[in-house]
Amino acid sequence: MAPPPPPIPIIPVKAVSPYMGVAEKVMLQCDELGTISSMFPQVCRLYLTPEHAKCNKVVAGWMETAGMETWQDQAGNIWGRYRASESNARTLVLGSHLDTVPNAGKYDGVLGVLVAIEAINQLHDKGIRLPFNVDIVGFGDEEGSRFGTTLLGSRAVAGTWKPEWMDLVDKQSVKMADALKDFGCDPELLHTASRTEDDIFGYMEVHIEQGPMLEGHNQPLGIVPSIAGARRFLVTISGKAGHAGTVPMNMRQDALVAAASAVHMVEQIANRFQIVATVGQLQCYPGAPNVIPGSCQFSIDIRSGRDQTRDVAVDTIQKQLQEMVDERRMTIEWKEIHSAPAVECASWIQRLMEDVAIKMDLEPLSIVSGAGHDAMSIAEFTDIGMLFVRCGGGGISHHPDESVITEDVAVAIDALGKTLVRVAEDKLYLPP
Ligand code: HGY
Ligand code: MN
Ligand code: MN
Repeated sequence: MAPPPPPIPIIPVKAVSPYMGVAEKVMLQCDELGTISSMFPQVCRLYLTPEHAKCNKVVAGWMETAGMETWQDQAGNIWGRYRASESNARTLVLGSHLDTVPNAGKYDGVLGVLVAIEAINQLHDKGIRLPFNVDIVGFGDEEGSRFGTTLLGSRAVAGTWKPEWMDLVDKQSVKMADALKDFGCDPELLHTASRTEDDIFGYMEVHIEQGPMLEGHNQPLGIVPSIAGARRFLVTISGKAGHAGTVPMNMRQDALVAAASAVHMVEQIANRFQIVATVGQLQCYPGAPNVIPGSCQFSIDIRSGRDQTRDVAVDTIQKQLQEMVDERRMTIEWKEIHSAPAVECASWIQRLMEDVAIKMDLEPLSIVSGAGHDAMSIAEFTDIGMLFVRCGGGGISHHPDESVITEDVAVAIDALGKTLVRVAEDKLYLPP
């Protein structure tokens, strides 16, 4: 396999937006939230942990400084409202997530919340109120890093939380319901986090691209037409544990060897179907150097921009892995822990964001999102749109090397602010 091409140096856009100063503040805020972590200097902030609570408090303070009223819902999401110029107005929601993967970067999710707050702060500083409320949400869990199931915060807001999730447990066997109570939430009231009955006419999410396209085209912003659908499984292969010294090779049912062959098959089938599939977690038991692994559990995350292609690939993987374990006289068990269909972004929001970017002398790329986002959940009840911000270093993400440049953050604040004003000017907040 050829080595990856050298990263392309990022050249900031010439006409720097007037928001460089506040963009520097947002970058420092990202640094500050990066220190609110369970394993500093790494960045790791999991759902319903003390770090999550501290982060919510800090972000609520920044929302209040921007003239917003704040509250925390019963799913642990933090909210801010920038009230409309008139009463009983409709609402536009902006937001992203504040949780992270372990050993994360500082911008995934966080940047989207802080750019939204800063865009409102700019309006507040100028004493501008819009003819619609702007609610900003920092979702408590998007990554699923603690309980395995993702998009928990936005699923609660979309009213699609599943009751069985209250029994999910984390690696320390802490139950979701107990974690919610420890966080100060009441599991019996989680349903009140739903916003589906509110008069919300749209949701916009600013997020880092987490890919190489914008860097490759030397553009600071991209517009998202759709978000790939994902299905995630926990697979357990069971063989037979035994003494590493006395069981002959031809009499073994080594679960880890079978799992290794399964991981290779997943890669081959993903290449064949032109989709992406990842085995990110793998554990074998009992996990002693002198014991043949009796069982092995691993995760498979499978995604595609087309649900049908993804589902055929899942069926193929399941069929081929079954044949392989049968041959090895072992068993295999599948548990689906996450499934989200691919979603389309609303064309009126895409067109609006494109027009704003073009008027800013940018050439906004249209980029299908391979990464999942909270917007997928919110798409269940309102129109969604996403604005991508260029990443450096080949788009590396879910890694401490994740990076953005201040100039692009300034452009993103400017573009989002202009988009909000255009929603008002073009009366896009009015009911159809
Ligand atoms: O996994 C994802 O696509 C997202 O970063 N949670
Ligand atoms: Mn992520
Ligand atoms: Mn994210």
